[in-house]
Amino acid sequence: MTQEEIEFFDRLAPEWDANEVRSTPQRIGAILDMLPIAEGDDVLDLGTGTGVLVPYLVERVGEKGHVVGIDLSDGMLSLAVRKYGHFRNVEFLKIDFEEEQIPGKYDLVLLYSVFPHLHYPKDTLAWLFRMNMKEGGRLVIAFPSDEKFINAIHHERDSDSDHLLPAAQLAEVIREWGYDVEIAADTPDAYVLIIA
Ligand SMILES: C[S@@+](CC[C@H](N)C(=O)[O-])C[C@H]1O[C@@H](n2cnc3c(N)ncnc32)[C@H](O)[C@@H]1O
Repeated sequence: MTQEEIEFFDRLAPEWDANEVRSTPQRIGAILDMLPIAEGDDVLDLGTGTGVLVPYLVERVGEKGHVVGIDLSDGMLSLAVRKYGHFRNVEFLKIDFEEEQIPGKYDLVLLYSVFPHLHYPKDTLAWLFRMNMKEGGRLVIAFPSDEKFINAIHHERDSDSDHLLPAAQLAEVIREWGYDVEIAADTPDAYVLIIA
């Protein structure tokens, strides 16, 4: 992440939850229903932001599971810690997940509303699978909307390098990188790729 990107998310942080109207309980619930997430699982939430997903993940993994949220923006992370730092099975870490190693192995690694911000998506996926995935674990790329909505936001910001392909096309690219893409769904309410 560049310093400019960190400052961008630091600036957005105070209003993030008020503006993030797409991550409704219904949409998040529908996305999580599609995922292989079970009680006792260890889940990694990369680019956790203000921890939008965290209470829903905690509910699914229960007391025996763990949720680790990673972000590099202090503005985002401090809000996540304030809201959910008291959960015994939740930890927030300040790490650049494309540059530094994340501790632990996980059943599920989530990139929720994060994938277009990756600088080295192919290398980062390879690194995460090698270093942080339990046997049989899955990596998930998800958004609470389709790719047209995401691209419209990034276009407004004049940030076309963040362009997101339709799910079926991104699935093809990721298959060419050597992975199985088990689900590639793209609806107005949910964009989900499950990668093994
Ligand atoms: C669009 S926000 C999404 C936040 C949250 N997942 C949500 O849906 O509300 C992207 C987040 O990813 C974080 N991020 C992007 N690249 C990162 C990296 N390489 N390392 C750590 N955090 C990163 C940003 O700081 C930001 O908080």
